[in-house]
Amino acid sequence: MQRFAPDRRRFMRLLAGAGGALATGLTPAATSAPLSKPIPSTGEPLPVIGMGTWITFNVGDDPRALDVRAGILRAFFAAGGGMIDSSPMYGSAEAVLGKLLRRLDYPPTLFSATKVWTRSGDDGPAEIAASQALWGLPRMDLFQVHNLLAWRAHLETLQQMKADGALRYLGMTTSHGRRHDELERIMREQPIDFVQLTYNIANRDAERRLLPLARERGIAVIANRPFGGGALVDRAQRHPLPGWAAEIGCGNWPQVLLKYIVSHPAVTCAIPATSRVEHMQENMGAAHEPLPDAAMRERMAADFARL
Ligand SMILES: NC(=O)c1ccc[n+]([C@@H]2O[C@H](COP(=O)([O-])OP(=O)(O)OC[C@H]3O[C@@H](n4cnc5c(N)ncnc54)[C@H](OP(=O)(O)O)[C@@H]3O)[C@@H](O)[C@H]2O)c1
Repeated sequence: MQRFAPDRRRFMRLLAGAGGALATGLTPAATSAPLSKPIPSTGEPLPVIGMGTWITFNVGDDPRALDVRAGILRAFFAAGGGMIDSSPMYGSAEAVLGKLLRRLDYPPTLFSATKVWTRSGDDGPAEIAASQALWGLPRMDLFQVHNLLAWRAHLETLQQMKADGALRYLGMTTSHGRRHDELERIMREQPIDFVQLTYNIANRDAERRLLPLARERGIAVIANRPFGGGALVDRAQRHPLPGWAAEIGCGNWPQVLLKYIVSHPAVTCAIPATSRVEHMQENMGAAHEPLPDAAMRERMAADFARL
């Protein structure tokens, strides 16, 4: 996380800005500190629910859309949110984040994560510098190689940045269950802090080899597409919430889907994306005890498969 001295007054202002959130939807549990898990390579705690920005933050200069995204960020930070994941692939998302972070006086819990995404390793440093300028932070927490593109060259660049103290963590991403064999080889052979991959209640391929390997190798795991791009929530919400949802502290389907993911022992955080403040509030509600145990997780997946 960014190392800034906590400024109580500034943070209280932020909370006040999210006053709607606190007054209208957050449960008492959701206003307490969220659950976090340690990043294996350092032990630094990271809140288990982060946020994605693909599509949802690609809103350019539209003032109304920007105001809504400011509200989403306020609700995220007010609920103790940490990781924000973006990429130069996501259109204006990084520029939007930079603009809003300057506007919001973000708290010290921010954990900034973006990616390098160019075919040529030679173009990596310029793209990395451009992303840093857009975010406007003194230093990024995490740079990931997006979809393993030119990964050897970019990994070298990121390793040098980390050695120079210009970057805190480095990682690799894949999505939609693609290229897991190649990711597995990288995890076995390269010193990386994070992997990001698609893992959700309907796409459990990572449970076979990648998640156990991440534990063995001490690599943090970011679960992307926790809602399958929204399709899993749509499918679930046609059905009543199962009786067992209350046993694991879930008041809605999105929380069930998120708790399934973050209760896996190898998963460090999930990064749902949303364009709505009320959805952010629901999603952050998943960052609290109780979490399902292994037997409940099997039951959840089996019941979901029957929907
Ligand atoms: N290769 C890569 O590195 C890679 C690939 C894919 C994704 N990612 C990262 O992972 C993030 C998440 O994946 P994603 O954006 O593909 O999809 P996702 O988070 O699985 O799903 C997003 C969708 O879920 C809906 N949603 C969110 N919260 C909801 C709620 N509480 N109730 C109902 N609907 C809700 C959103 O609609 P509303 O806007 O209406 O809330 C949106 O349509 C991305 O944004 C990106 O940062 C990385």
